[in-house]
Amino acid sequence: MAGPYLRFDPDGELRPLAEADAAELFALTDRSRERLGCWLPWVDVVRTREDSAAFIRAAQKQAQAGEGFQFALRTGGRLAGVIGQHGLNRDQRIIDFGYWLGDGFEGRGLVSGGCRALLRHTFATLPVERVRLRAAPGNLRSRAVAERLAFRWVGVQRRAERVGDRWVDHCHYELSLEDWVRLQLPAGAAPRAGAQAAVAATTAVDDALDAEMADYYQARAEEYDDWYERRGAYAARPGHPEWFDALARLATVVCRFAQGLSPGAVVCDLGCGTGRWTAMLAERRDLRVVGLDRSTAMLGQARARLRRLDLSARLLAGDALEPPLGAASCHAALCGFLFDHLDDHQRARLLEGLGRTLRPDGCALFLANRREPRHVADVELQQRVLGDGRRFRVRKALFDAEGLRRALAPLGAATTGEAGAPFVWALVRRGHGADAPGRVTAAG
Ligand SMILES: C[S@@+](CC[C@H](N)C(=O)[O-])C[C@H]1O[C@@H](n2cnc3c(N)ncnc32)[C@H](O)[C@@H]1O
Repeated sequence: MAGPYLRFDPDGELRPLAEADAAELFALTDRSRERLGCWLPWVDVVRTREDSAAFIRAAQKQAQAGEGFQFALRTGGRLAGVIGQHGLNRDQRIIDFGYWLGDGFEGRGLVSGGCRALLRHTFATLPVERVRLRAAPGNLRSRAVAERLAFRWVGVQRRAERVGDRWVDHCHYELSLEDWVRLQLPAGAAPRAGAQAAVAATTAVDDALDAEMADYYQARAEEYDDWYERRGAYAARPGHPEWFDALARLATVVCRFAQGLSPGAVVCDLGCGTGRWTAMLAERRDLRVVGLDRSTAMLGQARARLRRLDLSARLLAGDALEPPLGAASCHAALCGFLFDHLDDHQRARLLEGLGRTLRPDGCALFLANRREPRHVADVELQQRVLGDGRRFRVRKALFDAEGLRRALAPLGAATTGEAGAPFVWALVRRGHGADAPGRVTAAG
């Protein structure tokens, strides 16, 4: 049975596995055993060429039954891995995709390209309306495929599979036929592709994600302010209709915060980005404003903004988790939309660092996106799409006013408020109870 032949960029092709592939399939499996064996239970069972041949024969039976194919993924004429359709459920109109690549073939977009070609083929030829991908929380490469292809997050299945002598959880992602069709619309006609995914709290410490986020801020700097103009929508979902009113209310909160500071006060904007709030603080020309950000590209935008507005502030490249500022050197701090991009450990470090940097009677204003009913988890892995199509994952912790107040407790008591549906803010005044009178207010 010949079956479909699917081609895709970069230089990839999918053909149903044939018995002639057995030797190459076994060699690739054997060579990649150590890496694949971490996540795939069958690897340990495949010990000979005959085991690979038996898998191919089972795949051929599956294909003859009209239940989908197991494809050899080839590039440059060499077998690179396997992508397959599994578990066709005609009643529920759903099928699973599974994939793996051999050592040396990772990082070239082969699985994403192959899955894209297979999605097209699947929706065109099988009675399904959903395709599902499953990957262990720690299998970041595999999960990145789901996120890159705009699959939607479904949930975590605990103890989903036994791999060797341990249980492995599975993150479930799905792509519906409806989403697939929408994503195929020509650029411009299509809403921006985007998938949102919650991450299990256990995967919160994630160095690869942090590196990706740092790259994202660098890459996004020039178009970062678009977010404010595009009603906060990065992904396919429409922005908030009440966005601009809410943004104006948030600006009022920041203005009142600035107005409440004493002349000569040193105020630091942590994660200042393009300097939207830094400039607002600097409008009070009698304050000494410092903008701190890790991204030099963001700082470049902030510098240009200040120059345009003829305002002055000191801009510093550095880590907000360890602010390069003297102990008790700041009277006040602002932290806009940074706290909620951090994991638990990083948030604790930021509060510790800020605790050192702020004077004992200092205050700090935090701004964040507000948790909404559609958010199912405390932390989401969200996708950001740049104007040129590049995609990045970012972590977003979700707070309502009470959650933010609790999260800030190590720094001090906070008053909180919601500046219209999308935003929440919290003002911490050290050395005061939340309700104690004081000069600084942020009531908006
Ligand atoms: C979502 S943007 C918010 C920018 C700005 N505060 C605003 O509200 O428009 C987050 C900013 O924090 C910066 N950032 C992220 N992690 C940081 C860290 N550890 N230290 C300093 N800046 C950081 C990013 O480079 C980015 O500019």
